[in-house]
Amino acid sequence: MSRGIDTLMRQHRDCDDALARLEDAARAGNWNQAAGALALLEAALEGNFNAEEARLFPAFEQATGIAGGPTAVMRREHDEVRALLANAREWLSLRDGNALAAEIDTLVVLLQQHNVKEENVLFPMCRTQVPDLDTVLAGIA
Ligand SMILES: [Fe+2]
Repeated sequence: MSRGIDTLMRQHRDCDDALARLEDAARAGNWNQAAGALALLEAALEGNFNAEEARLFPAFEQATGIAGGPTAVMRREHDEVRALLANAREWLSLRDGNALAAEIDTLVVLLQQHNVKEENVLFPMCRTQVPDLDTVLAGIA
């Protein structure tokens, strides 16, 4: 087992929780609460994405020599999530509850599929192929 990978998986759960809070606030039409929840979600996602993009993915790419494979797909999906967050922020500022709800629905599906791929495919590959994984991921929280 790797403590660093466990931390990344805990970050995924934290992001799910933050997203659920945003969903609840948006559904209730509570704009202030939704804005706070969106800010927390963005911070949680950026923390997780940065740890993966700056630490885990380069280590995987270096260890395997594969740069255009799973990590390229995961980076692209991170950017898709970032685009959805920007849209959500826009709908929130326009107080458009229906558009915000639709954006959140897309975000829920994309993020769930993304995290399943990381946890079931990429992380196990990293566990077996990246030497010194806990050093690579040291300091992430
Ligand atoms: Fe990711």
